[in-house]
Amino acid sequence: MPKQLWIIANWKSHKNIQEALEWVNLVGPKLERRDNIKVVVCPSFVCLEEVKRAVLVGNYPILVGSQDLSPFSEGPYTGEESAVELTGIADLAILGHSERRQNFGETDTTVAKKVKQALTASIQPLVCIQGPDTPIPVDCKLVAFEPVEAIGSGHPDTPEDAAQVAAQVKKGHSDLEVLYGGSVTSKNSQSFMKEESLSGLLIGGASLDAKEFVKIVESAYGL
Ligand code: PGA
Repeated sequence: MPKQLWIIANWKSHKNIQEALEWVNLVGPKLERRDNIKVVVCPSFVCLEEVKRAVLVGNYPILVGSQDLSPFSEGPYTGEESAVELTGIADLAILGHSERRQNFGETDTTVAKKVKQALTASIQPLVCIQGPDTPIPVDCKLVAFEPVEAIGSGHPDTPEDAAQVAAQVKKGHSDLEVLYGGSVTSKNSQSFMKEESLSGLLIGGASLDAKEFVKIVESAYGL
């Protein structure tokens, strides 16, 4: 049976609406519809709705995710995007990315609140963990192991080490899927996805280039 895999593009604060739509219309037609592979693109909030529409219009096998959401429900929270508002647009939300923890003071408690909000809105939370010691919020079934030193550095973890961490993390949690993120490219993507304990990839820099991202997805075909 082919392996169930997630391949998730995290664009961070890159791409305006025009660039986002160009990417969708380059990548979308190139992807094969496979039951075992979930491809997700996570643009900035401003592009979310347009990207979602382009995916629907093109009938592309791509899900759409946000890079964050509010720890609160809808209400008087200036500047926040609540899970309720994202309903119908975002299928998934990246939560607790190390860049949010480092630059925006996000704590494990905040991440847990965000997970709760996502779940009440039927948005799949993807929690980024920096190592086996990062707490995994209750009812979270999808995490990405992203060693901080591997992010954007060109120095990925080894597939063996990432797989070992994933196996360790999974021990205490039933039904948990663990992804790897940090300097993934089309050259190393397959070696991570081949590891039994890893269920896919969270990709930053390399996901911005449409051709490179398609190559990464193609490296999952046949696994
Ligand atoms: P990178 O980022 O692929 O550019 O290292 C990964 C991430 O931060 O999710």
